[in-house]
Amino acid sequence: ESSMHAELEKLLGSAGAEKEVSKKDFEGFKNLYHRFLQVKGPSVEWIKIQRPPEDSIQPYDKIAARGLPDSVADSLNKLVVVKLNGGLGTSMGCKGPKSLISVRNENTFLDLTVKQIEHLNKTYNTDVPLVLMNSFNTDEDTKKILQKYTHHRVKIHTFNQSRYPRVNKESLLPVATNLSMAGPNAEAWYPPGHGDVYASFSNSGLLDQLIAQGKEYIFVSNIDNLGATVDLHILHHLVSQPNGRRCEFVMEVTDKTRADVKGGTLIQYEGKLRLLEIAQVPKAHVDEFKSVSKFKIFNTNNLWISLAAMKRLQEQETMDLEIIVNPKAGNTPPHTQTHTQSHQTLDGGLNVIQLETAVGAAIKCFDNALGINVPRSRFLPVKTTSDLLLVMSNLYSLEAGSLTMSPRREFPSTPHVKLGSSFTKVQEYLTRFESIPDMLDLDHLTVSGDVTFGKNVSLKGTVIIIANHGDRIDIPAGSMLENKIVSGNLRI
Ligand code: UTP
Repeated sequence: ESSMHAELEKLLGSAGAEKEVSKKDFEGFKNLYHRFLQVKGPSVEWIKIQRPPEDSIQPYDKIAARGLPDSVADSLNKLVVVKLNGGLGTSMGCKGPKSLISVRNENTFLDLTVKQIEHLNKTYNTDVPLVLMNSFNTDEDTKKILQKYTHHRVKIHTFNQSRYPRVNKESLLPVATNLSMAGPNAEAWYPPGHGDVYASFSNSGLLDQLIAQGKEYIFVSNIDNLGATVDLHILHHLVSQPNGRRCEFVMEVTDKTRADVKGGTLIQYEGKLRLLEIAQVPKAHVDEFKSVSKFKIFNTNNLWISLAAMKRLQEQETMDLEIIVNPKAGNTPPHTQTHTQSHQTLDGGLNVIQLETAVGAAIKCFDNALGINVPRSRFLPVKTTSDLLLVMSNLYSLEAGSLTMSPRREFPSTPHVKLGSSFTKVQEYLTRFESIPDMLDLDHLTVSGDVTFGKNVSLKGTVIIIANHGDRIDIPAGSMLENKIVSGNLRI
């Protein structure tokens, strides 16, 4: 630990104008690193895990059934919308912030967010601000774009999350040689996960500023979750609780399906609700964790948090969020790299780790925390181009920045779409569709290899299209494929 402190001092010694920010960052990092060195064994004892009590996870319908008062505007004026905007579009083959990728009718994630809040402010004559938590990776590009919203009816604030040093897996010391982000140091720094929101928000001064303006709750969510709109029923539930029994933290959870094995779940632990992430689960229990029967719900990362409580916890310095050790392997030979691995690896072949925390892990620190089991529609993340195909299609319609499932779809569930590696990058994916196929009656789509789609294609039931290596399949304009397998170099 003392070697680490000496290294950090050395790094600060080389600093120019950015010294003050880095100093603050390093204080946070030292604290995290100290806790990391203290950790012995897993952060949960499996036998102490209990099912959350009945009333600690309430069905959304029960919350919504209470109806809305006439004073919706009063509640909205106590709300701040926070979007986690530290991430890049790397896994979809894009440079720059993920929030600037176009997802529907030329709208980016950020455009849709701004439209949603603007719509609320116009409808209720309110002043709900938008706060973006940027990282050093996304701040510059995001700020440039924000000028385009100057005349929109939504006040936009930004703050930067911390920048921490990646550490060598063996020596556990920073790999950076100076504070710059250039050259060999480009990969030496990282944003330490969304759990950083508490410290960064408070350090930026914005937390105090918003409290002074009379704001009481923030609604935090991933900017790539298109289902994370402001829900008036949940907001009303929060602001109408009697003083003294105020719920300080709501986590929106939703029913797990077999496709959601990775998401964190809520457990009762030492008398409090706690988020259990797969990274915390001992190897012997991973299958049990993934099962849909024992852990029935997962965290959507849509969270409602009391600003006053955040301030109190920051002042007490008692937020001990579980540390997620994220290893980044170096020196993978290029030919064995899959696309998803490629952004996980570092140049120079160094094995490093980065210490991260998750925003939802703080649930255990707040009083009267509550889970609300929301409809699946509030969890619509776009992580891959397969997700993108769904949200660009006629399965959804767009209204005031929000996507809703088309009433013309007979089943409430979304089709299962699996596009192959020729579709991974957004640019290439777009060139492969002359127009987005009709998917209203689709259940399952698998596409693999060099495949293109002409205009006005219609896909129904289960459709599998596989072009073998060296072959190409062009689906002609106007085709209707229903329960079909197309393979080889067959042209239909
Ligand atoms: P990710 O896309 O990286 O995470 O970030 P995930 O796969 O959903 O899984 P979890 O939620 O980490 O378990 C989710 C959101 O958090 C932001 C990203 O921009 C995205 O909106 N994020 C992530 C940050 O703002 N900062 C970070 O350090 C990490």
